Amino acid sequence: MSQQLLAAAQAVRGVLTGQSLSESLAQTPGALRPAAQALAFHAMRQLGFAQAVRAQLVPRRPSERLTEAMLLLGISLLEAGLRQTEGTPQIPGTPIYAEHTLVHQLVQAAQSDRRTRPAKNLINAVLRRYGRERAALLPQIQAQSLARWNHPDWWVDALRQAWPQHWQAILQAADQPPPMTLRVNVRRQSRAQLLALLQTAGIAAAPIGSVGLILERPLPVRDIPGFAEGWWSVQDASAQRAGELLPLQDNMRVLDACAAPGGKTAHLLERHTLALTALDSDAARLERVADNLQRLGLSSDTVHLRCADAAAPADWWDGQPYDAILADVPCTASGVVRRHPDIRWLRRAEDVARTAALQANIADALWPLLAPGGHLLYATCSIFPQEGESQIQAFLDRHPDALRRAAPGQILPGGVDQGDGFFYALIRKPENARG
Ligand SMILES: C[S@@+](CC[C@H](N)C(=O)[O-])C[C@H]1O[C@@H](n2cnc3c(N)ncnc32)[C@H](O)[C@@H]1O
Repeated sequence: MSQQLLAAAQAVRGVLTGQSLSESLAQTPGALRPAAQALAFHAMRQLGFAQAVRAQLVPRRPSERLTEAMLLLGISLLEAGLRQTEGTPQIPGTPIYAEHTLVHQLVQAAQSDRRTRPAKNLINAVLRRYGRERAALLPQIQAQSLARWNHPDWWVDALRQAWPQHWQAILQAADQPPPMTLRVNVRRQSRAQLLALLQTAGIAAAPIGSVGLILERPLPVRDIPGFAEGWWSVQDASAQRAGELLPLQDNMRVLDACAAPGGKTAHLLERHTLALTALDSDAARLERVADNLQRLGLSSDTVHLRCADAAAPADWWDGQPYDAILADVPCTASGVVRRHPDIRWLRRAEDVARTAALQANIADALWPLLAPGGHLLYATCSIFPQEGESQIQAFLDRHPDALRRAAPGQILPGGVDQGDGFFYALIRKPENARG
C-alpha cells in the first residue's frame, strides 16, 4: 500500500507543478497505475479541502513539492475515512482507510523516497494532529470557498456569474464519477445487436441518443467484447451529439478542423461516406486518429489526415470549399472535470480569455472555406460562456451573413443522458454568399 501511496503522491506532485494527471500517471509503473489513479482522483476532488487544512496546520508550504503532495493526499484520505466513520455520504468509490493504517503506510511511503524522508515526522505529526483536532478545525476550514467547493476561487466565481441558478449543481456534479458510454459503430452492427451481445456477456446497458449505450457500471475496455474488432468506441453522450447535429449527405466534402483523437471524425464516417480531411496541429495526437479509424474500419482513400494549424489555411487548404466543417476547437475543458478532475487545478483564470481568442481565430479562419449553403458546427467541452454563447454572438457580429440554425447551445454537465458539459452552435452560410 505504501508504494501505491507514493505513486499517487507523485501524480499529485505532477499536478502541483503543472503537469496533467494523465501525463504524471503515464510514468507510474503499470502494476501500480490503477490504484495510484484512484487515489490521485480522490485527492484531486478534495484538493481544495486538503489545501485549506494544510495551510491551517503547516502555514509555510513545504518547499519539497512531493512532501506537499503527500500531505495533501494524506489529508484527503484521512478525511474520507473520518467521514465514513461518522456516516457522512461520500462520492461513490471513495478510497477508505482506517486512520492508523493510513498514517503508518504514508510514513512508510515518505521513508522510501529521499525527497520526503526528512519530512516523515512532519507528515506523521500533521496527520495525527488533524485526526485529534478535526472537530475544532472544521468550521473555519469549511467556511472557505476553496475547501467547500474544491475548485479554485476564480472558477467558482466564474460559474456563479455565468450560471446563477445552476452553479452549485455544476460544482457538485463535477465530483460525481461519470458514467461510461459507448457509441455503436453502426457500420459493423446495429445497436440492438451490440446490446444483445453485451447482455450475453453479463454487461447491463441502456440505449441513449441515436447510437449510444450507457453502461450500468464502468468497465475496463478490455472487459467489453468487440473493442479490437471496432464494434464500438468509448464516447461521452454529449460528444455524440456532434455526429447528429452536422447535416451531412454521402460524398460531401467535409473538414474536421480539430480532429484528434478522432472520436467525432469516426462518428461522421460511421454515418456517411465522405471526402473528409481530418486536421490537427498535434502530430502525436493525429496518429491516434489514424489508429482509431483503422480499428473501426473507416480508413479509406477519401479520408485524409493532415497535421496543420486550422487558423492558417493558407498553409494547407487546396482552395476547394467544404460542404460542412466541424470545428471542435481547443478549449479549457471546463465541462469535463468529472473525467479529468485535475483540470480545475491546472487552468488559470487568464486561460479562459486566451483560449477564447484562439477559438475566435480558428472560427474566423475556417469561415471562408465553407461553401455557400454549407454548415459549420462549432463545438467545445466548456461551460464558460466566453468559449460558448458569447463567442458565437461575437462571431455572428463579425460575420453578418452567417445564419444561426437550431442546436443545443450550452449543455450543462450531468444533464441529458448524464453527459459532459458541451456547447454546440450550428451556423449556415447563405446560398447566395460570395464564397
Ligand atoms: C477538443 S480536441 C478535439 C477532439 C476531437 N474532435 C474528438 O472528438 O476526438 C481539440 C483538438 O484541437 C487541436 N488543436 C489545437 N489547436 C489547433 C489548431 N490551431 N489547429 C488545429 N488543431 C488544433 C488539439 O491538438 C486537439 O487535438
